[in-house]
Amino acid sequence: MPANAKSLEILEHNRAHIPGGVVSINRATQPELVFVKGEGARIFDADGNSYLDYHGAFAPHFLGHNDPDVTEAVIRVLRDGASLYGSGTTTLEGRLADLICECVPWIESVQLLNTGSEATYQAIRLARAVTGRDHVIVMQGGYNGWHNDVACNLMTPLATLGPRVSPGEYPFLPISAGIPEAHRALVHPVNFNDLDSVEWVCKKYPVAGLITEPILQNIGIVHPKPGYLAGLRALADRYGFLLVFDEVKTGFRHAPGGYASLAGVTPDVAVYGKALANGYPMAAIAGKRALMDWFAHPDLSKRVLLAGTYNAHPVPTVAAIATIERLLANGGEVYRRVESLGERMEAGLKALLAKAGITAKVVRQGSAWCTYFMDHAPVDWHDLASNHDAVRDERMRRAMIEQGVYFFPLQTKQCSLSAAHTEADVDYTLAAFGESVG
Ligand SMILES: Cc1ncc(COP(=O)(O)O)c(C=O)c1O
Repeated sequence: MPANAKSLEILEHNRAHIPGGVVSINRATQPELVFVKGEGARIFDADGNSYLDYHGAFAPHFLGHNDPDVTEAVIRVLRDGASLYGSGTTTLEGRLADLICECVPWIESVQLLNTGSEATYQAIRLARAVTGRDHVIVMQGGYNGWHNDVACNLMTPLATLGPRVSPGEYPFLPISAGIPEAHRALVHPVNFNDLDSVEWVCKKYPVAGLITEPILQNIGIVHPKPGYLAGLRALADRYGFLLVFDEVKTGFRHAPGGYASLAGVTPDVAVYGKALANGYPMAAIAGKRALMDWFAHPDLSKRVLLAGTYNAHPVPTVAAIATIERLLANGGEVYRRVESLGERMEAGLKALLAKAGITAKVVRQGSAWCTYFMDHAPVDWHDLASNHDAVRDERMRRAMIEQGVYFFPLQTKQCSLSAAHTEADVDYTLAAFGESVG
């Protein structure tokens, strides 16, 4: 009997009524595992196997699975009888907005949503409303959600991209069918770290906004070059578009003020999700009051519609409050802890790769890292797609899973430590990595 027999049985059952057998087809993986429990740094599958988890459900579990403080806050709010009213404001949403503004000093005003995609959607709509323009710039290798404007490209194959282009934009392969041609014409993907291409697009089209993760984290970890984010800020000011930092993956994970606070560059709008509520569906769009007030504009022809039956539902709202309170506790002890675990992991991985004589680069930002099988850290998706050994990467990931360490089995997917991981977990992971690449 295969080690995943029970998982296969559940998958087979679910295929009857769910396309592909799985909700969100990007979760369909090899090996086919069905997880039934998460606790701290570990996840457990239906066949009774346990894994050290570095996938973290695409990164929200920054405190670890089912963090006791967050769980307690959720149970308490339900016991207290809080419900969803859909009428008027609540003290909980006010408290969460206060906390977000406390964490990110440049932010004056916040709106709450359920998912990162909703937040990026609203950011682009806001940019169009405020500027009266339609075109948007996105990044090759960036992921900002599933809606039409941003689902135009992610890991577009080299065969479609063709040779490196700068300045300019690439042909792209939407990651979804059903995006209208007219819509595609408004979206301009450029290379990350390429200011000339941003300027090239601005000279050609009336650009409403540029949305980017300030450090790409959906193709591993691609750092901005020194001066790049400040250069985007300067171009936004020169050409009058809104600079939107998508901090859905980086916000609250890298610092309370997000990656923007580490980079020292202030966007016009930022969006958050994931680590904000440690695994509960909560997202935020935030910025200066003058901009955010467009969501409540007294002139209805200018008001940007932001609505949602479940926005600021009490369960994810208290989860976010409890998460942020933990992140701010003891002078940010959580961040110091994951940084030290991250350092241990990075040093260990580098030593193992050197010992095995493998050409590779380990790139890390705090709790998140990626191993690239190429001779330099990639500067953008084109560079990565041209040089990274994807086959070796996926082979390594499957070998890790066989040893009880869950790296998402798709090339360059970021690994994420949580505050629930321990030094012993890191050491176990390193031993498994040694076996996987040796
Ligand atoms: C940077 C970034 N932006 C936006 C999103 C979309 O968030 P959600 O899946 O909550 O809609 C994601 C999801 O992975 C993301 O990584």
